Amino acid sequence: MKDNQSLYTAFQVTSTLLAQSKKYPFSDLIPNDTVSLASLYLSQTEEGQKHLSTFKSPFRRWCLNTITEWWLPGFTSFLLMRKLYVEQKVEQFLTKYPDGQVVNIGAGLDTLLSRLARRGINNRLIEIDYPLVMDLKKTYSLHHNLIFSGADLKQTPIERVLENSGFNPDAPVLFILEGVLMYLPEALAFDLLQTLNHLSQSNSELLFSAIRDDESLFNPRVKRAMERNNSPFLWAKELTPLKTELIDLGFSVVEQETHEDFSSRFTDKLPKPKAFTLYEYYNYAVKA
Ligand SMILES: C[S@@+](CC[C@H](N)C(=O)[O-])C[C@H]1O[C@@H](n2cnc3c(N)ncnc32)[C@H](O)[C@@H]1O
Repeated sequence: MKDNQSLYTAFQVTSTLLAQSKKYPFSDLIPNDTVSLASLYLSQTEEGQKHLSTFKSPFRRWCLNTITEWWLPGFTSFLLMRKLYVEQKVEQFLTKYPDGQVVNIGAGLDTLLSRLARRGINNRLIEIDYPLVMDLKKTYSLHHNLIFSGADLKQTPIERVLENSGFNPDAPVLFILEGVLMYLPEALAFDLLQTLNHLSQSNSELLFSAIRDDESLFNPRVKRAMERNNSPFLWAKELTPLKTELIDLGFSVVEQETHEDFSSRFTDKLPKPKAFTLYEYYNYAVKA
C-alpha cells in the first residue's frame, strides 16, 4: 500500500472536522486543542500541509464544506455528533472505572486521548493505527500513560498489538473503534471483536461503528473515490443482525445509535441535518 493511501481516511476525517471548526454552530463544539493538535499532526507531511492550507483559506474551506455536503449530505454534522458521543462515553466510563484503561483502535488523528492525557489523567491510554499514522502523533503527544502502537490490523493480530502496548487484561477497559471496522474484511472484523471480548479478564466495554446494509445510501462517486484510495467499505450490516452476532460473541448490547438517535441526543447543540446519507451507526456493548 502506498504511504498516502494508509493516511487517506485519517486525513479525510481530520480535515473535514477542522473545516467545521470555524463554522457556527460547529465551532463552539470543537475544542481549541483539537484544532491545534490536529494541525500539528497534519503539518508533518506534504499531503497534510495541503489539507492545512485548505483549512486556513476561507474560500477553500467553503469549497470543501460545500463539496462534502453535496457528496454526503449530513456527514459533517454526523461527524461532530459522533465525536461528542464518543467523548461522552469515555467520560462516563472513566467515572465508572477510575482505574480503567481506554484503547482506541483505528484512532487516526483523533485528539481525544491526547487531550485527556494533557489534562493529567493517569489512566492507561492506548491508540492503534497504521505505523505511518501513529508516527505523526508521537512527537506532539508525549505522555507517560499514552501509548501509540503502529500496526496494520490486516497483518498483525490484535492480541499481539495489545500485548506490545502495555494493555492490562486485569483492568477494566473501553475499546473504541470509531469508523474503522468497515475497512477490514468482515470475518477479520468479527474475529477482532471476539478476541477483544476474550482478552479482558475484567469489565470490558466496546464502542464501535458499523455501516447499514443499504446500497442506495452509498453514492457511486464516493465509492469510486474510496476504492481509488484503497479504502472501500468491505462489509455492512443492519442493526438487528449485528446485535445478534454481538450476543453470539459474548456481548450484551446496551445501545445502537443511528443518525436520527444522535440528532435527538444532541438536539440542544446542533440543528437537525436536512438529510442523512452515510448510514453509520454506533454500537455500545459490554462483556456479558
Ligand atoms: C475513517 S478513519 C477514522 C479515524 C478515527 N477513528 C476517527 O474517527 O477520527 C479510519 C481509521 O482506521 C485506520 N485503519 C483502517 N484500516 C486499518 C488497518 N488495516 N490497520 C490499522 N488501521 C487501520 C485508518 O488508518 C484510519 O485512521
